[in-house]
Amino acid sequence: MGMLQELSYYLKSQSTSLPRYVLEQAVMTLLGGLPSIVGVGLRGIAYKALLKSEGLPLIEHSVRLLSPANIRLGKGVYLDSGVYLNALPGGISIGAGTNLMHGVIFHVFNYRGLPKAGITVGKNCFFGEYTCIRGQGGVRIGDGVYTGTQVNIAAVNHVFADPERFIKDQGITADGIVIEDDVWLGSNVTVVDGVTIGKGSIVGAGGVVTKSIPPYSIAVGVPAKVIGDRRDPEAVKRFNNAQVFFGELENLRK
Ligand SMILES: CC(C)(COP(=O)(O)OP(=O)(O)OC[C@H]1O[C@@H](n2cnc3c(N)ncnc32)[C@H](O)[C@@H]1OP(=O)(O)O)[C@@H](O)C(=O)NCCC(=O)NCCS
Repeated sequence: MGMLQELSYYLKSQSTSLPRYVLEQAVMTLLGGLPSIVGVGLRGIAYKALLKSEGLPLIEHSVRLLSPANIRLGKGVYLDSGVYLNALPGGISIGAGTNLMHGVIFHVFNYRGLPKAGITVGKNCFFGEYTCIRGQGGVRIGDGVYTGTQVNIAAVNHVFADPERFIKDQGITADGIVIEDDVWLGSNVTVVDGVTIGKGSIVGAGGVVTKSIPPYSIAVGVPAKVIGDRRDPEAVKRFNNAQVFFGELENLRK
């Protein structure tokens, strides 16, 4: 591959056009590292010109945005420092009031013209530190979904049918993942491609979800197995006498 071809390929992976690339890089170089509330304020105004946002987005320093023309943010979305959004074709849409904590990565990963690629997240969700979503087959997440730290949601599998060839040369499958409203995924959960996690379900820390889970399930383990139903009073009786706390931050931002 010649140098020009290399650069043109690189550009396609970074932005939607050359003029936009120049503008995006200029704005992010100028403002991307500014600390404090001043940085958050200036980025809120300037980045609104780079992506689609309802209201001023709250963006901390050192947030990396690729192809921001394909990013849509609802009102009051918060991006903590170190967040990386790579919105190749298919795009990323994040609903109002959703928080992405430090180091969260949403990567559409659509380098192959995948028809279902993209990442859509509903309102008032929370993604714990270093959670990573790959959207090749499409990832659709409902409202009020919470993840612990380092959760992996990967809508892709490598084909490995031919043992004589490198796996990397055998292509991928990408069916998509659906996570319905009000789901809580504990820390270090992995969700594999093709799975639907039903409304109101929880998955215990470290679980690997390889099959769809019906609504209101409590699922744990590798592979994750349903061990209870949240609608069963027996399954949740430990909360009867527990001391319960509520989030101050959420209340402040209401
Ligand atoms: C899934 C979870 C909520 C279950 O809590 P619980 O209702 O109190 O359940 P219990 O502790 O009574 O456990 C029920 C059974 O599931 C097992 N279990 C619980 N959590 C498990 C997990 N993460 N992985 C595998 N098994 C688990 C228990 O060992 C127990 O098995 P047993 O009946 O054979 O003894 C909790 O264990 C968990 O994983 N929480 C996630 C914590 C987290 O990631 N926090 C990050 C902040 S968002």
